[in-house]
Amino acid sequence: MDRLPAGVDPAELADIALKVAVEAGVLVVDDRPRDLGVAETKSSATDVVTVMDQRSQDLLLRRLGELRPQDGFHGEERGARTGTSGITWVVDPIDGTVNYLYEIPAYCVSVAAVLGDPSVDGAWRPVAGAVVNPLTGERYTAALGGGAWRRVGDGPAQRLTVADTSLDQALCGTGFGYDADRRAWQAAVLTHVLPRVRDIRRIGSAALDLCRVADGSLDVHYERGLNPWDMAAGWLVATEAGAVVTDLDGGDPRAGFTVAGPPAAQGSLRTLLRSAVEQVGPESAR
Ligand code: IPD
Ligand code: CA
Repeated sequence: MDRLPAGVDPAELADIALKVAVEAGVLVVDDRPRDLGVAETKSSATDVVTVMDQRSQDLLLRRLGELRPQDGFHGEERGARTGTSGITWVVDPIDGTVNYLYEIPAYCVSVAAVLGDPSVDGAWRPVAGAVVNPLTGERYTAALGGGAWRRVGDGPAQRLTVADTSLDQALCGTGFGYDADRRAWQAAVLTHVLPRVRDIRRIGSAALDLCRVADGSLDVHYERGLNPWDMAAGWLVATEAGAVVTDLDGGDPRAGFTVAGPPAAQGSLRTLLRSAVEQVGPESAR
């Protein structure tokens, strides 16, 4: 893995991540069409969501280009940039787009600065990040070695530290991909997890789930199929709060699996998931 380029301060990158994520959050709330109803106009409303995703990403691309012109850019929507500094910004312009569509206040803008190549599974890692929920005013930030922080509105910044728990007492967040076959496989795995945890939450934003692991409003989180932009900032927020975030085998989280939680609970969850996957069989075999 690449090293932090000389002269790069993760705390400064985290400040930039927060600044642009807040700006994008204002855009997605203020410019959300008032008639983005879900009942009658679902297909066109979905298109509007796509337009807002693109507009939010365009803002992030432009602002990061102004603030850090030498860095690369990798986002969920169209538009990428190759940089020369060794830092790439990995952004999710709206994570929780279905919540955005339905006006459920659990969506966010996620911005992370990473080392390595985010287009290659397992070949990158975050060094700074921010996750902003523009409706609740929650702002999570982390810089490598600088801890994880949460601030709500004008309230004080609170340093986050996870507390471990046994898996059977753990509130477990998870999510599902958009592909029907993947969902069927994920549902089958879930039947092995649900009886062994306190309960399950499908909040609808992986970035927020990972931040919730950091602040203890979820104990653990797992999902198959996350993209770099879903997990980049939340991965760092969780680890800087003392959580462990890996794939099923203890390596870096990747498209295969992201498993997050305090050390003991995360280890137990990986063991449970490995056994569930073994019993369910490979996704392609279903
Ligand atoms: C989705 C959310 C969701 C997760 C999906 C993601 P999007 O991102 O993070 O919680 O379960 O896998 O694709 O589409 O809302 O940006
Ligand atoms: Ca996402």
